[in-house]
Amino acid sequence: MDYKDFGLVNTKRMFSDALSRHYAIPAFNFYNMETLRAIISAARDTRSPVILAVSESALKYMGEDLLRGMIWGLNIKDTDGVALHLDHGSSFESCVNAIKLGFSSVMIDGSKLPFDANAALAKQVSDYAHQYDVTVEAELGVLSGIEDENTKSEKSSYTNPDDVVNFVNATNIDSLAIAIGTSHGAYKRKSDDEELRFDILDAVAKQLPDFPLVLHGASSIPKTFINKINEFGGKMSNARGIAVNQLKQAVKKNICKINVDSDSRLAFTAGVREILSTKPDDFNPRDYLSLGQKYVYDNCIDEIKNIMNSANKL
Ligand code: G3H
Ligand code: 13P
Ligand code: ZN
Repeated sequence: MDYKDFGLVNTKRMFSDALSRHYAIPAFNFYNMETLRAIISAARDTRSPVILAVSESALKYMGEDLLRGMIWGLNIKDTDGVALHLDHGSSFESCVNAIKLGFSSVMIDGSKLPFDANAALAKQVSDYAHQYDVTVEAELGVLSGIEDENTKSEKSSYTNPDDVVNFVNATNIDSLAIAIGTSHGAYKRKSDDEELRFDILDAVAKQLPDFPLVLHGASSIPKTFINKINEFGGKMSNARGIAVNQLKQAVKKNICKINVDSDSRLAFTAGVREILSTKPDDFNPRDYLSLGQKYVYDNCIDEIKNIMNSANKL
């Protein structure tokens, strides 16, 4: 199945426009009908391009056929600026499978491999994907936190700016994820004073002036959702994300894709907990899933407008 049959686009034009007009394409992860509907509605209502991101475990959870059915059901047109992206692909085979399913963009995550092995794997994926006009992201440097059910990383290392030109030239990738202090999950920083390493971002951007850079682990972990979760029976007291002003600063530089998963998870959980707690006799899943969906939608709108600066960019 060709992604163009779904009305999807790859990320090439998205990124060149984002770079020249200083905004970031939101890459929101989804894993069910409610999160998908929330994300696509938020993108449509703000006229923002969007990357629908699917991890390997989310793909397994939804099932390949059901995922494709849901994408089909969105009635996307190529003028809508929607890409379907494999997040943290762990192998060449996983990327090939996603491309065959109709993904328009893939990430091959060899970030924990030595430089040469990471580059060789990324090149193998690029060579294959480009035959089908699918764009490829790879990563240099290691983020801490949970990236996927299968890949947990306790040790992080920042991207070395001296490596990036060689890596991009050796791999022919279309975008590069870098490690400048973000991390996956809801517990990113011990204090509000911890800042991103903009010196590294600047040094990378100097080496790769017109090249799309990607920030993973970029959820801001909104206090409103943490407070709601805690108010309605959850326990997430030390959760802390990347400060919104730091993300905005990154967008003004060469970061043109920002990955957000945890914020949507929190928003969804807050909505479900709120209904279950305030209406203990309600056992209709459509009620609590609807509020979860609404909070994900509200959060996507907020981040599109106030972090990504991608509203009205279609
Ligand atoms: O960065 C990766 C995502 O947060 C994926 O997490 O594998 O639990 O869907 P997941
Ligand atoms: P968060 O955990 O910060 O939402 O990061 C998501 C991500 O990087 C998906 O690839
Ligand atoms: Zn990630």
